[in-house]
Amino acid sequence: MSENREVQAWWRDNPMTYGAEHGRTGYRDGQFEMGTPEFFERLDREFYSWNHPLHGERPFDRLFPYRDYRAGARVLEIGCGLGTMAMNWARNGVEMTAVDLNPTSIEQTRRRFELMGLRGRIELMDGRRLDLPDAHFDYVYSWGVLHHSPDLAQSLNEMMRVLKPGGGFGLMLYHRRSILHAYKTLYTEGFLHYENRFLGPLELASRYGDGARADGNPHTWPVTKDELRAMLGPFSRDLDFRVLGTDLDTALHALLPGLGLILPAWAKKPWARRFGWSLWACGHKS
Ligand SMILES: C[S@@+](CC[C@H](N)C(=O)[O-])C[C@H]1O[C@@H](n2cnc3c(N)ncnc32)[C@H](O)[C@@H]1O
Repeated sequence: MSENREVQAWWRDNPMTYGAEHGRTGYRDGQFEMGTPEFFERLDREFYSWNHPLHGERPFDRLFPYRDYRAGARVLEIGCGLGTMAMNWARNGVEMTAVDLNPTSIEQTRRRFELMGLRGRIELMDGRRLDLPDAHFDYVYSWGVLHHSPDLAQSLNEMMRVLKPGGGFGLMLYHRRSILHAYKTLYTEGFLHYENRFLGPLELASRYGDGARADGNPHTWPVTKDELRAMLGPFSRDLDFRVLGTDLDTALHALLPGLGLILPAWAKKPWARRFGWSLWACGHKS
């Protein structure tokens, strides 16, 4: 467990606020105090805007099978951050459990649930060793979490252990075959800025993949579809992947400022579908 202390401390000090930087509560339209209703409303708005293609009538309903899991269904989120997605699932009427490695997230998500009159079990836990029973949940998901922690295979084993046979899962991890990783991290920082000389592949991805203000974070290691297929395939009868190119305009902007604005949507979509930064794996446990 000890090597995750550094990961835990980093996310405790730099929680996922969707502010100008991790851990900051300043947004384009002002500063908000953590733990207030205005703060949660503002961070949710920002989080939703980053992922706008994934929403229909409700946030993330193009991703999450809300209709299949309603009152009485047990749902688990691994790495809940400040609780936006857990809130939406709790509003669906499910029995919500949300866990995270860092205490700031747990405190803030509990506060959010209290403010919004929602019920849920919100606990400090490491995804690599869940203190939860076998075959307990109907649906388990994790969004942008397990690439930040060593032992991905062990975390995925745990995720599948607590899921009921036939239960559904959804997992978003950063994608190594992406424009962002190839252009920003490998080419610009690694090659042009000469960082390859000083940093190994994991250090480079951790330093430039996320959290630039705080000199990156201790661990960011994006995955490939094949790697995930090897780890999840044995557990699942219908494993499927989607590359979510929600970052494409940012990645194109890094290539040439304004490129994302000039190119029409039809020209961008095929790139987004292949080389986006977010890889979504979903299916059901066999
Ligand atoms: C980028 S944030 C994402 C949070 C949330 N899912 C969201 O999208 O806003 C990463 C979160 O993963 C948590 N985390 C990292 N490693 C973890 C682990 N091994 N088990 C549980 N949570 C972990 C961090 O504490 C942090 O809150």
